[in-house]
Amino acid sequence: MSLPQVLQIGPYPEWDQERLDAHFVMHKYFEAADKEALLAARRDDIRAIATRGELGASRALIEALPKLEIISVYGVGYDAVDLAAARARGIRVTNTPDVLTKDVADLGVAMMLCLSRGMIGAERWVRDGSWQAKGLYPLKNRVWGKRAGILGLGRIGFEVARRLVGFDMEIAYSDVGAKDYAPDFRFVADPVALAAESDFLFVTLAASAATRHIVGHEVIEALGPEGMLINISRASNIDENALIEALAARRLGSAALDVFDGEPKIDPRFLALDNVLLQPHHASGTYETRKEMGRLVFDNLSAHFAGRPLPTAVL
Ligand code: 8YV
Repeated sequence: MSLPQVLQIGPYPEWDQERLDAHFVMHKYFEAADKEALLAARRDDIRAIATRGELGASRALIEALPKLEIISVYGVGYDAVDLAAARARGIRVTNTPDVLTKDVADLGVAMMLCLSRGMIGAERWVRDGSWQAKGLYPLKNRVWGKRAGILGLGRIGFEVARRLVGFDMEIAYSDVGAKDYAPDFRFVADPVALAAESDFLFVTLAASAATRHIVGHEVIEALGPEGMLINISRASNIDENALIEALAARRLGSAALDVFDGEPKIDPRFLALDNVLLQPHHASGTYETRKEMGRLVFDNLSAHFAGRPLPTAVL
């Protein structure tokens, strides 16, 4: 029996690639010099898309593949998949929830500490001889005991909050409603009010059209010149232009960002700012988590083609 044919949107680690190559015919879209030609040649063969969270699958791509049955996302976020287009054709969509939650939360907390304590500059201070030449490193800002706001208390936001308890922080959150699993954290319905009473604001919402630019001018101004914004969700949750302008004018204290509009080609204005920590969208990037994510991408595709229930279905 011939192997199912899969359109692969971006690269995976070699251990995932080997397993996928052994069970499916993988068409590497990202390597194709002429992507239109690849789609035209394989339009009647391709039954699945294997993609990554930030790459997704557009309506145009879905419409170019009339035999498409399933889209398997390597990532928890599926905002880059055109769900309406998939739903209209009964195409299944899967993601990789849970396995990455704690790594993403870890990186968010690490980013807060790193930026607050000036660890990047401190490293430079040692390496470039400033320590010997100039002496003590400039003082930085305390983290423990301060006020943390969590915008979106889902799985990842909750794990961030749990970690911050260990830093003796006062923790509040905004979400569509108060969460019964979070009785120890204070619910603040309005994100602007949450920002106004936070020193650190974590953005941990699943992105959708409804959350686009939820962190806009008002939230940023409310967080203010002493505040820090930490984004480990999706760039679309923040009005990036408003963010850059506020950082440049010091109306916002600082920002630690793992996600960007148009990444990996980020807005060059970020590079000129000294009050940002820039990370290359790697919050889930540990060997352990990425192996589990790759396994889920494979397991979902395998289950689909074997007629078994999908382990982690979105649609
Ligand atoms: C990426 C992510 O998929 O989980 C998500 O939604 O954005 C990430 O885990 C990962 O960076 C692989 O590209």
